[in-house]
Amino acid sequence: MVSSPESSRGNLAYTEAKRDFVSIDDLCNAEILNLFRLADEYNEDLTAWTATCAGSILATLFFEPSTRTRLSFESAMLRLGGGVISATQGDVMSAAKGESLADTVRVVGGRYADLIVLRHSDEGAARVAARYAEVPVINAGDGAHEHPTQTLCDLYTLWKEKGRIEGLEVVLAGDLKHSRTIHSLAFALARFGASIACVPFPGLEIPRSVLERMQRDWGAEVSRAEVGDLPGISAEKDAVYVTPHKPHQQSLFTSITPQHVDSIDAIYMTRLQRERHESDAGTESQRYPSLAPSQFTQPRFRETRVMHPLPRVDEISYEFDGDPRAVYFRQAALGVPIRMALLAFLLGRVDLGPVHAERSSSLRYCSSVGLRCANRRCVTNSDAVRYVPPEFAILREIPPLLRCVFCGWEVEPRLVGHQSSKRLHRGNAADAARIRPDRRVYFADEAQAEAAGFGQD
Ligand code: NCD
Repeated sequence: MVSSPESSRGNLAYTEAKRDFVSIDDLCNAEILNLFRLADEYNEDLTAWTATCAGSILATLFFEPSTRTRLSFESAMLRLGGGVISATQGDVMSAAKGESLADTVRVVGGRYADLIVLRHSDEGAARVAARYAEVPVINAGDGAHEHPTQTLCDLYTLWKEKGRIEGLEVVLAGDLKHSRTIHSLAFALARFGASIACVPFPGLEIPRSVLERMQRDWGAEVSRAEVGDLPGISAEKDAVYVTPHKPHQQSLFTSITPQHVDSIDAIYMTRLQRERHESDAGTESQRYPSLAPSQFTQPRFRETRVMHPLPRVDEISYEFDGDPRAVYFRQAALGVPIRMALLAFLLGRVDLGPVHAERSSSLRYCSSVGLRCANRRCVTNSDAVRYVPPEFAILREIPPLLRCVFCGWEVEPRLVGHQSSKRLHRGNAADAARIRPDRRVYFADEAQAEAAGFGQD
């Protein structure tokens, strides 16, 4: 049951030859920095590049609302000399008639377009689309999961404002639970060696799955920090603090004594993502923060950049717009040159040098029997995507630790069965270790195993 989805050959994971941009992990740091340099060239004169992608067509498929992301992609493609086709309302697309995402992207990526930009409400939907489309797929936001091109804009803005990313102190504020821009940005900042202070609106803390991935994949250390008075952002002075390059931490919170964060390079504010909340409980009793320049007069905010992916609702006052520290409109403007650079790269029109994103060599486990992703919003649990079985990267064999390849949630299955004998063992048992990896079947609990006809001796 260990499989290789892209190739269906043996038990190793192979990756497709085309380059998609579904997660911020799909580009390595060197490639991202090269995209910034290319975007700088484009930005000098946005009108000078109409030969770059002449003859190519971009399809924007947006099943959720968008202003900046879709229009900046379309503007970027037109500025590169390419064409654009667009379907922007789920209810008028054939999805409303029951067409699967897989079929839609197979058709659009067949002869209609050379690249697809997709926004969808299911977490992991863009990964599904990338599997089925022949052309590169860019994730323009998949539910509350990731929004990697917004992260390119965010990092590019930081890089231009501060001249570097490594070593910066960045505060992430607001709805850290549901903001996909926060999740992709947190992964990227951890990878580039910045420090992150998470200061959520109470009840909207950064998901554990995001912190776990930063720890496991990049050795980030997660601790508590004293951030002092962050006026208007939170009544709490305590933040979850993520610092780079401290490998092999065992527990989620490694430090009981809080560290102190004195200088703040950027505050990244987000709106309340009401459309993703299950209820208003918890967010009604307290006022959502609103930032104004009068709150940021202490010397430690002198060089702070105030960022926001937009749209803003009330969480940054209009008074801030004229303050030189407010960079959110510059951030939105940089979305065009950085997306031009990304499109030109994925369409093979520019060479970023001999660097390639490191491809995961971890084994994959794929089975329609037994273990399912525990994230209800994962695309593998969506009624509309019944054709995609759950699939996990195996992070650790015994006791097993698996990560959903679509939404990134980790799971520790309690039981392991043998595919042929249907015999069941505890995940950490020696007998489980003796089952050949490609014969193992994982289960969350006894009930799930029994339902599949597996049992203990
Ligand atoms: C963000 C999104 O859609 O996730 N917007 C954007 O793309 N700039 C942020 C948001 O909607 O709050």
